[in-house]
Amino acid sequence: MTRTSVRSALFECSTCGSQSPKWLGRCTECGTWGSVAESVPEPAARSSASGRSSVAVPMPISEVTTAGAAQRPTEVAELDRVLGGGLVAGSVTLVGGEPGMGKSTLIMQALGRMAARGTRCLLVCAEESTAQVRTRADRLAVLAPELFVVSETSLPAVMAHVATLEPVILAVDSIQAVHDPDAPGAAGSVTQVREGAQALVRLAKENDLATLLVGHVTKDGGLAGPRALEHVVDTVLSFEGDRHHALRMLRALKHRFGATDELGLMEMTASGLEAVNDPSALFLADRRVGATGSVVTVVMEGTRPLCVEVQSLVAPTGAPMPRRVAQAFEGNRLSMLVAVLQKRARIGLGDQDVYASVAGGVRVAEPAADLAVALAIAGARDEFAVAGDTVVLGEIGLGGEIRQVPQAPRRLAEALRLGFCNAIVPASTPDVRGVSLRRVGDLREALQAVTARAASGAG
Ligand code: TYD
Ligand code: MG
Repeated sequence: MTRTSVRSALFECSTCGSQSPKWLGRCTECGTWGSVAESVPEPAARSSASGRSSVAVPMPISEVTTAGAAQRPTEVAELDRVLGGGLVAGSVTLVGGEPGMGKSTLIMQALGRMAARGTRCLLVCAEESTAQVRTRADRLAVLAPELFVVSETSLPAVMAHVATLEPVILAVDSIQAVHDPDAPGAAGSVTQVREGAQALVRLAKENDLATLLVGHVTKDGGLAGPRALEHVVDTVLSFEGDRHHALRMLRALKHRFGATDELGLMEMTASGLEAVNDPSALFLADRRVGATGSVVTVVMEGTRPLCVEVQSLVAPTGAPMPRRVAQAFEGNRLSMLVAVLQKRARIGLGDQDVYASVAGGVRVAEPAADLAVALAIAGARDEFAVAGDTVVLGEIGLGGEIRQVPQAPRRLAEALRLGFCNAIVPASTPDVRGVSLRRVGDLREALQAVTARAASGAG
């Protein structure tokens, strides 16, 4: 179902929002039965919410002003890091995350700090009473006079509050809980959420209002409501973490005003979210130095190098098909590395279950961690350890060759900061002061480097 056919579409699924030119008993996109119904097409030229007819005039690009594109820091350092500076006037930012992640906390901290600097902020709490919100504000110590709150679920009322209060920043917690009595569908339905978001985007653009929307995600990680929501807003942030751990990760899935590769790391404390200042140290805190199957590598998250521990466990399988289980990195990559280890380094894994994970909660998507994973698996299989003062960098090719990784010097500098003075690296890696490099061309050489050092009793 192509989204380019929106204009001619007449039927719409109330679960996923996909559209089709004919009625269907079962939605072909999400598989729900009986959810497709005729949709009321939007009038072609819908007048803007304020009734103002905006006639835009084409102009030379050099005369277009960039005023308004300046970023206003939210003063929550990790949020600003992910946003690339702060919030842009007239922009709409969606903050998605599972319940209990700390979305309301993050929003309130940001609004509270901006309000403390004299920026007028309006927080619309559509899910909580103002008393509940006040309790949170007390806890976070954000009782600035310029921070206004209203408990409201009706969209027209939100618009009216914006018109009277004239805030610089608007936050709506959550987009699923507001509804427009004039639009079809129940509160939280696809139509309502999309219409609501579109109305708030118009409101933001017309009033130069930097808007934050909280959005709930479904169990599989998608934003509840139509996917179209992600296309409507300027920025989509995802707030993730393990419910049982205090660590929270904030990343941009889409960002019209900057890069999407910065990771924000925060910890939920008794008085709100706090930046994690030394994530590498945090990730390595519980490491058992010199354990078999444990290897430290350095991954890049945006512009930031992070030391992480890769762990592996190899055990004889009881099943006809041995298991390959990857946690916090890609399963296909693990299968590939297992195959390369078997074929190029003659490590017998055909009758073994192989588990590999990245400790600490960050997800590693970089091939730069390949060699660390491979050495962890080989170490777990043959019971040898990589020395505790050694980091491992390198991508592995199908031929077993070790390929270079981007920004190796930055990674090694971070490793050195944490006391790693030895490194196993691809052959082309330049010297880094303070780190003794063992350059390797292929997997066999890397294994020799580790086992020779283990045999000589180093580390
Ligand atoms: P909340 O921001 O309400 O999450 P969300 O809006 O994403 O559902 O808060 C999440 C959890 O964090 C909640 O269980 C209470 C806890 N919490 C703290 O530990 N410290 C704090 O300062 C605050 C405000 C909440
Ligand atoms: Mg909440």
